[in-house]
Amino acid sequence: MGDKITLHNLQARKERGEKISMLTAYDYPTALLLDQAGIDMILVGDSLGMVVHGLDTTLPVTVDMMVMHTQAVRRGIKHAFLVSDMPFMSYQISTEKAMRNAARLLAEGGADAVKLEGGRHMAPTIRDLVEVGIAVQGHIGLTPQSVSALGGFKTQGRTIDAAQKLLDDARALEEAGAFSIVLEAIPAQLAELITQSISIPTIGIGAGAGCDGQVLVTHDLLGLFDRFTPKFVKRYAEIGKAMQAAFEAYRDDVQSSTFPGEEHSFAMPDAVWESLQSEADASGNRHANLSQQREYVDKEKIR
Ligand code: KIV
Repeated sequence: MGDKITLHNLQARKERGEKISMLTAYDYPTALLLDQAGIDMILVGDSLGMVVHGLDTTLPVTVDMMVMHTQAVRRGIKHAFLVSDMPFMSYQISTEKAMRNAARLLAEGGADAVKLEGGRHMAPTIRDLVEVGIAVQGHIGLTPQSVSALGGFKTQGRTIDAAQKLLDDARALEEAGAFSIVLEAIPAQLAELITQSISIPTIGIGAGAGCDGQVLVTHDLLGLFDRFTPKFVKRYAEIGKAMQAAFEAYRDDVQSSTFPGEEHSFAMPDAVWESLQSEADASGNRHANLSQQREYVDKEKIR
């Protein structure tokens, strides 16, 4: 496998028309497998709130949670470019707060870049982060942190005004210095138009094949998250079903004493075992004598 993926490689991919693959990871073993599979970018998405922590939305996810998961993922990566999500309200209040929190994801978590949601209104924050040397990926379209304001998990950009606004947002993020933009749940034609209108790579999720790259939530792709499956997800495996079958087989083996077998157990040298048994017999006799004496004393007390 090649060297570590850099911002320069990602930009060159767009220029050469080579697609970029991105998936989410929240833990070390998954990161290791994604990296070994040659996935270009790994995202520690705040989707971890829903798929790993069982929350209903991404809103309660904190910077501390993101730092901890990013650290675990970092340990599994040698080649991929690592992006960590800025959670809800970690960047919207002030640029200073955004800088402190982004710095934590990079310095403590080990991320190569951060991702944040929002269009033109986030451009000044992105510009400030980029100016101090923090690489930023934008995220527009269906932005899950604004799910209530958007009226639910719905496709975006389907009216002329909404489509024009997304095009304008993408241009504003590019001008602000974002190195890439995630386009989520927008019509394929609009995503393709945005991709052709800006010079930085677009990464689509539910945005058709015309983007420069694609991202999915790994738990969706593996069949590990069953609460809902968006239309844009392709299931590449049924790992949830395989895990369930393994857990049930284990439970049955424990109940029937089939597990552990001799091959999973440790044996003792014969001589040690024999002397332990004679010790145990002797101490068993001592215990028997002691409990006889105790019974006698107890009976005495009752009288
Ligand atoms: O949080 C996440 O996993 C994301 C992807 C869906 C792009 O933002």
